[in-house]
Amino acid sequence: MSQFFIDFFRDYGKYIVFLHVISAIIWIGGMIVVKFIVAPVMASIQDVKVRLSRILEIMQRLLNFSFIFMILIVITGTLMSLGLDFKHSSPSLYMLVHIKEAIWTLMALNFFYIYKKRNSAAKQFLSGDNEGTAESIFTISNYLLPLNIFLGFVAVYFGVILRGL
Ligand code: HEM
Repeated sequence: MSQFFIDFFRDYGKYIVFLHVISAIIWIGGMIVVKFIVAPVMASIQDVKVRLSRILEIMQRLLNFSFIFMILIVITGTLMSLGLDFKHSSPSLYMLVHIKEAIWTLMALNFFYIYKKRNSAAKQFLSGDNEGTAESIFTISNYLLPLNIFLGFVAVYFGVILRGL
C-alpha cells in the first residue's frame, strides 16, 4: 500500500505540492485580508445594523470559501507525507509531520468554533441584540482569526523545514 503512495507522489507530486501550497495561501490569505483590509473598512460604516449585517455576511462567505481549502490541505498533506515516506526515510521529520497534523487539527477546531460563533452572532443580530452581535464579532476578529493566522504561519514554516531547508 505504501508503495502505491510513493509511486503516486512520484507521478503527480508537483500537482499535490501545488495544491497544498495554493490552499495554504488562500486559507491564510483570506483570513489576513478580512482581518487587516476588510474589517477596518467595515468599521467606518456608521449605520450599526448595516455594519453588523455586512460583517456577518463577509464572515459567512469567508468560512464557506475557506472550508474546501482546509480539506484540500489535509488531503494533500497526507499524500505528501505518505508519498515522501517520511516514516521510514526520516523519523525526525516524520515527527514534524505529526506536529503539522496537530496544528491543522487546532486550526480546524478553531475554524468550527468561529463558524458556531458567527451563527450565534447572526441569531443575536436577528433578535435585535446589536451589542451581543458586536461582542461576538469582536472575539472572532481580534482573537480567533489572529490565532488561526498565527497557527497557519507556523504550519508554513514547518512545511519549509520539511522541504529540507
Ligand atoms: C495535515 C496537516 C499537514 C501535513 C501532513 C503537511 C505536510 C507537509 C509536507 C510533507 C510538506 C513538505 C513537502 C515537500 O517536501 O515538498 C509540506 C509543505 C508545506 N506545507 Fe504542509 N502539511 C499540513 C498542513 C499544512 C497547513 C495547515 C499549512 C498552512 C496553512 C501548510 C502549509 C505548507 C506549505 C506552504 C508548504 C510548502 C513549503 C515549501 O514550499 O517549502 N501545511 N506540508
